[in-house]
Amino acid sequence: MSVLSTRLTRMWGCDLPVIGAPMAGRAGGELAAAVSAAGGLGMIGVGAATSPEWIRENAETAGTAGGGGNFGIGLMVWNLAEHPEQFEAALAADPTVLSLAFGDPSPWVPEAHRAGISVVAPVNTMPQVREALAADVDVLCVQGTDAGGHTGRVGTMPLMQQVLDYVAVQAPGVPVAVAGGIATGRGLAAVLAAGADAAWIGTALLASSESLGSGELKDAAVAARGRDTALTGIYDRAEQVAWDTATWPTRTVRNGFVDRYAGDPDVTDGELVAARAPGGPYADDLKLHAGQAVGMVLRREPAAETVQRIAADATRLLSRYGRA
Ligand SMILES: Cc1cc2nc3c(=O)[nH]c(=O)nc-3n(C[C@H](O)[C@H](O)[C@H](O)COP(=O)(O)O)c2cc1C
Repeated sequence: MSVLSTRLTRMWGCDLPVIGAPMAGRAGGELAAAVSAAGGLGMIGVGAATSPEWIRENAETAGTAGGGGNFGIGLMVWNLAEHPEQFEAALAADPTVLSLAFGDPSPWVPEAHRAGISVVAPVNTMPQVREALAADVDVLCVQGTDAGGHTGRVGTMPLMQQVLDYVAVQAPGVPVAVAGGIATGRGLAAVLAAGADAAWIGTALLASSESLGSGELKDAAVAARGRDTALTGIYDRAEQVAWDTATWPTRTVRNGFVDRYAGDPDVTDGELVAARAPGGPYADDLKLHAGQAVGMVLRREPAAETVQRIAADATRLLSRYGRA
């Protein structure tokens, strides 16, 4: 058996323990299909305003393009009460797995299970771990603060260790994926050696040929360094999105807007809206949500090359240390 075979690859029927993260606005059907076709499991990301039509179309692309029909859909729980049509469209698309992030998944898990769909819950704290396990999710995804996009405040390493220790005793049958800062075979090897079941990667795919977003955004991901990110809620406030930004701030690449306001405790929502409005002083600053792994994004390349390089390097490292 391959050193990369885990409970999760067997559960979700993929060859590699590499999950392509659901990234609203950046991960559509083409990226998900490319990750799945490369042997991992690709997911599409659903944002607050994503339409059911978009979900349907991108799920179809994700599921039919060479990945053996394997793909996932990532939903944001806090948005679903107001937009249950997103959940219905996701179920109808029949993914391998639904990711229910950023909120208590319990109202949505039973229906997904009745439809035969596996459920993974990204978690940022130990109370969220307990909440997700009580909701009977099939898989946990530990998401450290190193991650790009919305995330928590505890680093991947400490959170991973705490969750793996807890799950080993309290829910030994539940596989754990790890998100936040993984972009190379060393990262994948590290989490597998620690006892996790997969790496869940987002930032490493931001400059891929198949990711959504402009060439300018992809070039910016290549140019950014690991020390260039900040954790802040100012974009959600400027865009008037109903995120709980205290619990889930956003890791993003710094620019003039971030440098001006992220550390300003007195800035009002009105000022932030005006700063980003057309004609506002920071209207044209490039919004690039990315994690600390962005310093390891070295070139624009097809997602398959990224996924297969990570897998091959991890295989070599794990074989060297005798994991078999
Ligand atoms: C641009 C961007 C958008 C994201 N959007 C979502 C999302 O819509 N839903 C979600 O569950 N996670 C989202 N995430 C977080 C990812 O699922 C994942 O946890 C993260 O990318 C992993 O860390 P890494 O970026 O260091 O690889 C996003 C991440 C990025 C970089």
